[in-house]
Amino acid sequence: MIKKCLFPAAGYGTRFLPATKAMPKEMLPILTKPLIQYGVEEAMEAGMHDMAIITGRGKRAIEDHFDISYELEHQIKGTDKEHYLTEIRELIDNCTFSYTRQIEMKGLGHAILSGETLIGNEPFAVILADDLCDNGDDESVLAQMVKIYNKYQCSIVAIEEIDPSETKKYGIIDGKEIEDGIFMVKNMIEKPDPKDAPTNLAIIGRYILTPDIFNIIKDTKPGKNGEIQITDALMTQAQKGMVLAYKFKGKRFDCGSVDGFVEATNYFYSLSK
Ligand code: G1P
Repeated sequence: MIKKCLFPAAGYGTRFLPATKAMPKEMLPILTKPLIQYGVEEAMEAGMHDMAIITGRGKRAIEDHFDISYELEHQIKGTDKEHYLTEIRELIDNCTFSYTRQIEMKGLGHAILSGETLIGNEPFAVILADDLCDNGDDESVLAQMVKIYNKYQCSIVAIEEIDPSETKKYGIIDGKEIEDGIFMVKNMIEKPDPKDAPTNLAIIGRYILTPDIFNIIKDTKPGKNGEIQITDALMTQAQKGMVLAYKFKGKRFDCGSVDGFVEATNYFYSLSK
């Protein structure tokens, strides 16, 4: 059973300045819902109820969002606006939220390691909230990955095919397809040049990790951009044992970029009509 989901949310969101000067990028809304709430809903749908959020300076709005706002609720109680808070209230009632701060920005691997005390010695999921995923009424990406975890009991990354010119933006995997859409990872490179990329299979922001990853991260040297990369730690884990990559079913929007953010907004707007 995977009960906990980790949300690295300490990043600055520089691509959305000035909007992110005083507001966490995870609170940017697609329609009326902040990005991180989509992520928490996906985790809950996949059976997880303990949300572990890695924050940093200037991220307090995330904590306030997953809390009751007595004054606001009192004001709208009994009015036709009450239903606006139903969804978020359901999350607050059904999940626990724990927070820890990443003091220094040393990469995604380092951010995940900052969550070790919140996670403990059990397998857990990771959602990068700016990768927004949707699979309509069918199973969410994380729920699909949990099924694979239950069968193979090892770390899993979600992947999708990208345009080969874009490999510099992603972790890229190479592997052997052992089941339809499931690859046993043989190689993993963080943000390679297109000429050095073994495939166009890119890691997107959904992971299931076994807890031995923490000690592996501790031994992982800074890699691409001088940061401690989860991709490098996963490569070590793949060499020691097994890591899978899963070509998920559904759509994914890169809401860390303005283009992807607008695309997601248009997509969810058209669904709402
Ligand atoms: C991170 C990972 C990268 C992955 C990407 C998915 O990069 O390091 O391997 O492909 O997330 O969004 P970031 O986008 O944080 O630079």
